This record gives sequence, C-alpha cells and structure tokens, in this order.
Amino acid sequence: MASEPQQPSPYPYATPDQPRQLTDEDLTLLSHYTGEKDLDKLREHVLNIWKAVKAKLWVYACIQRLMFLQPRIPTHDFYPQALAALKSDPDLLVLDIGCCFGQDTRQMILDGVPTESITSTDITSDYWEFGKDLFKDRDTLAVHEAFGSFTDPAFTAAGGPLGHLSGRVAFAWAGAVLHVLSEEDVRAFAKHVYKILASGGVWFGTCVGSEPAGEWAATPNGDAKRYLHSPTSLKALLQHIGFSQVDVVGSMPAEMSSMNDDMVQSGGQKTMLAYTARK
Ligand SMILES: C[S@@+](CC[C@H](N)C(=O)[O-])C[C@H]1O[C@@H](n2cnc3c(N)ncnc32)[C@H](O)[C@@H]1O
Repeated sequence: MASEPQQPSPYPYATPDQPRQLTDEDLTLLSHYTGEKDLDKLREHVLNIWKAVKAKLWVYACIQRLMFLQPRIPTHDFYPQALAALKSDPDLLVLDIGCCFGQDTRQMILDGVPTESITSTDITSDYWEFGKDLFKDRDTLAVHEAFGSFTDPAFTAAGGPLGHLSGRVAFAWAGAVLHVLSEEDVRAFAKHVYKILASGGVWFGTCVGSEPAGEWAATPNGDAKRYLHSPTSLKALLQHIGFSQVDVVGSMPAEMSSMNDDMVQSGGQKTMLAYTARK
C-alpha cells in the first residue's frame, strides 16, 4: 500500500510530535462543513486525527503541514468555470483524483456540486477513511469513491473500478498529485486522465514543479525517484498525449519559498504549477 512508508521520510520536519499551531483560517472549511463553531474543539479534533494518521500512514509534506484542511481547488483559475458547469448540468461528472482526506470533495459539495456528480479517488482509501472522521460525515457522505492507482491501465479500463466512466468525465481535478510520481508514472497518469475524459473535457490541477525539470526525492515506496516537471516540459507532455489548449503556469506562493529551504535539496528551483488541458 503506497501509504505505508518503505523508507525513512525525506522531510526533515516530519518528525515533531505536535503539528504547527492551527489558525482560525485553517479551520474555515471544517467549521463550515461540520457546522461546529467552537474552533478550539475543532483544533483538538484535528490534532487527534493528525496523530492517528501520523502513527499509521506515510506523512506527505502537505499532511505534515496540515495543508489538507485548506481546500486547494478554489485556488485554481479554472474552478469557477467548472463549478458553474457542474451546478447547471447534473449530468456532468467530476473526478477528485488523489483526493487524500477529501477536502476538495467537501469544498465542491459546499459549493453546490451535486454529490452524484462527484467521484473521489486515490491510490489508497487510508487517508479518505480518516477524512470521514475528520469531516464527521461517515454516515452521510454520498459521493462515489474508488481506490487504485491512476497509473495502472486496469484501473480505468473496461471492467476496472473506473472503467464505467471511460470517455464520460467532464472535469478531472488533481490537486498536488503529479509531484509524488516518477516521470514514467506522470506520463501513465496523464494518459489515463485523457482516456477517462469526455471529448471537450478538462483536466485541471496543481503540482510542485521545478525549473529546470528533473528528478527529486524518492517515491513513498522507495522504488523510483519523483519527477518535477517545468511548465515547458509538462505542457509538451500533455500536448504529446493529445490534450489541446494546454496552459501551465508557475508561481511561487509563500509556502513554496519555505519548501525550497527545507525540502530535500535536489533538482532546480521549486515552483507551484497550475495546469489546464482540454481533450
Ligand atoms: C500530496 S497528496 C495531495 C492530496 C490532496 N489532493 C491535496 O490537495 O491535499 C498526493 C495524493 O495523491 C495520492 N496518490 C499518489 N499516487 C497516486 C496514484 N498513482 N494514483 C492516485 N492517487 C495517487 C496520494 O495517496 C495522496 O493522497
């Protein structure tokens, strides 16, 4: 299971017993979604979940930093367009790929996307199950869910867990996923996203990038090196696969400048990439 570390964590900051202090802003989504207004109660709840996750699972940098509380999908320029379409046509389908705890799934629900339209998927159900405790919706969450690797052709092929969606998905979202994959796996992942999209469907997402592109830390199972694309190399890959109207933009949000200081130092200058690509 990918969430079980086969190697020591590459993050020098992944060892403290306590995470950083939670701000009120960190708790905005959780408070809106659960209806819990007592933020101190939520702080304690998050801390308990974080400790349980840390004891059992691979702790990605974004988990260590409690970034799973903050929805990422609203930060993408394409989201308003996808949201408007999904709200106006309940037949349109959306995937949250690499959903982890599922903060973006919950954000879409809060924003009015019909739960029937959403499929949340990840290589493992481990974080997702903790997400049901975190968001306190184990008995009410009505989105579709499917678990397996998007790099595996069988996952999206006929008869596979997502085979029934092949060629039918209007929007595929992948927040902060590509940078945990090897170069070969990014290619396979992108091919399978292309396949599952309907004609005219859009893949949009974010990932850590590097200028120049290159290998980075080891993947969680230790088998390969993760690959960080540059805007140019990711655009070329997506166009090669068949996507059109590909747009890849690099930026340097505050969280990234600190990552350049304390993440494993290899490859070029790290940036955050936001991409949009149409089938
Ligand atoms: C860095 S986390 C980002 C999670 C979340 N989307 C976010 O924005 O916070 C990367 C996620 O990708 C998932 N993942 C890794 N490899 C995957 C694969 N081959 N197929 C699907 N999901 C994968 C991980 O399990 C993890 O949940």
